[in-house]
Amino acid sequence: MPTHRSIDAHVARVGLLVTLLLVASQALAQPEPSALIDQQHCMFCHTNDAPFLAPSFQEIANRYRDNPNAQVMLEHKLRVGGRAHWGNMAMPSPAERGGPLSPEDAHTLVEWVLRH
Ligand code: HEC
Repeated sequence: MPTHRSIDAHVARVGLLVTLLLVASQALAQPEPSALIDQQHCMFCHTNDAPFLAPSFQEIANRYRDNPNAQVMLEHKLRVGGRAHWGNMAMPSPAERGGPLSPEDAHTLVEWVLRH
């Protein structure tokens, strides 16, 4: 039946549109902080999904998924450094990575890392 088919097609298109809108609104609500990531050279040592010179952001997010203190602990670590948690190599300080890091920027970066 032609009418049936066009209704199906319409439903499919509406479904697709809703999906696109959801994806777009998520991207808008939580943009990747790319300027900060560049400025601090995060991707020089990290990748999103494969261990490189440093643990991947997915590994980090998985490790801290059930740890409610992780956000604050990692912000502190990103700004002032701290003991290595993954091996012997600690992360370089912000000054060595590209410049001082404000508490707000550290917050943004850690939120982004933990979303992986
Ligand atoms: C010069 C290399 C390098 C750069 C640049 C770098 N990291 Fe790292 N990062 C490391 C290493 C090495 C570790 C593992 C340290 C450890 O064992 O705690 C690490 C660990 C981490 C951890 C987990 C820390 C923990 O205690 O578990 C986070 C979160 C992180 N990095 C985020 C970032 C972000 C965000 C940036 C950019 C602002 C960045 N890193 C830039 C090398 C780097």
